[in-house]
Amino acid sequence: MLDIRFEKTTNPKPLPTADNPLTFGTIFTDHMFEMDYETGKGWHDPRVIPYQPITLDPSAMVFHYGQEMFEGLKAYKADDGRILLFRPDMNAKRTNNTNRRICVPEIPEEDFVQAVKAVVATDKAWIPTKPGTSLYIRPFIIATDPFLGVRPSDTYKFIIILSPVGAYYPEGLNPVKIWIEDDYVRAVKGGVGEAKTGANYVASMAAQMKAHDDGYSQVLWLDGVERKYIEEVGAMNIFFKINGTVVTPMLNGSILPGITRNSCIELCKSWGIPVEERRISVQELFEAADNGSLEEVWGSGTAAVISPVGHLRWEDKVVQIKDGGIGELSQKLYDTVTGIQLGRIEGPKGWVIEV
Ligand code: PLP
Ligand code: COI
Repeated sequence: MLDIRFEKTTNPKPLPTADNPLTFGTIFTDHMFEMDYETGKGWHDPRVIPYQPITLDPSAMVFHYGQEMFEGLKAYKADDGRILLFRPDMNAKRTNNTNRRICVPEIPEEDFVQAVKAVVATDKAWIPTKPGTSLYIRPFIIATDPFLGVRPSDTYKFIIILSPVGAYYPEGLNPVKIWIEDDYVRAVKGGVGEAKTGANYVASMAAQMKAHDDGYSQVLWLDGVERKYIEEVGAMNIFFKINGTVVTPMLNGSILPGITRNSCIELCKSWGIPVEERRISVQELFEAADNGSLEEVWGSGTAAVISPVGHLRWEDKVVQIKDGGIGELSQKLYDTVTGIQLGRIEGPKGWVIEV
C-alpha cells in the first residue's frame, strides 16, 4: 500500500465547458501522480502534485534508447455519481508484462491501481459526462539515468496524467477506413510488439502518414515475416464476423493483448456467438469479402472503444463492409461495453471498479 502525499494546486485551470467538443488527448487536468525508482531503494515518494513540466537531464536514457512504457485506461462518471474504472487490474498486469520485456522494475498491481484511483479522485470534477466522453488515464514510466551506455537504467519515474476526451477518431462511431500495409512492418515475434512501449508506435508512423495521405484513418498491420497474416491496427485490435463466427488474430507475441479485445471475446462467447482466435490471412479476408461472407469488421481499444470499419484497402483492392455502415454486432458491443463502463449494465464480476 502506497503512502501517497497530496499537494493540491493553488491555481486550478477552468474546466472544459459543456459545449467544448472534446477531442482526444489535448487537455490535461490539474494534477498528476508521480513516483520515483532507484536501484536499492525501490519505488518511493508517491505523490499527487499539480500538473507540471518535468525536468530531466539531456542525457536521460529515455531520450536515447527509448526505455519507456505507457498504459491507457478510462474513468467514467455513472448516472448516480459513482466514479468507475474499467478493468484497471488488467492494465496493472500488462504494465508488468511490458516492464519485464523492457527491463523496467515492476510495480505491485495494487499500488498501480491505488495510484490511478488517487489521482482520478483528486481530479474527479474533470470527468466529462456527455455521451462518448470520458477521462482518459495515461500512466507511463521513463528511464532517467544520465548515461549514454546501452543498459537498463537504475532510476525511473512513474507518472500518471489525465485528459478529458471525446472520440479518438474524428469519425466518432461512424465507420473508419483502414489501409492494410504490405511494405512497412510494425513488429515481429520475439521483438517488443506485445509490450506497450513507444517503439511500436514510432515504427508505425511512416505507414500511418502514407495511409492518411490517401484518406485512410489507420493502418492494419500484417505479420512481419510472411506479410500474409493479419495482426492489429495502430491503436486497436481487429475483429471480423465471417459467416456468423467472430474471428480475431490470436495473440502471437507481436500483437498487443488488448483489454477491450478480451472483453469483446468474453461478451460474444456469453451471447453464444462462436469466437475463433486464430491466424487469419489477408487472402482469406478478401475471399470472404468477395463471396459475401464477411459480415462485419470492427476495431477494439480503450481510446477507440468499438470502432466499426467501413472500408479496407489492400494493394489495389478496396472492399466496403456493410455498405460503409455500422454492423449489428459492432453496435451491440459498443452499447454493451460503454453501458458496463458507465455502470448502466451489469457486466461480468470485477470489470468495473469504483474509485
Ligand atoms: N493495439 C494497440 C497497438 C494499441 O495501442 C491498443 C490500445 O491500447 C490496443 C491494441 C487496444 O488495447 P486496449 O483494449 O487494452 O486499449
Ligand atoms: C489506448 O487505447 O489506450 C491507446 O493506448 C491507444 C493510443 C495509442 C492512443
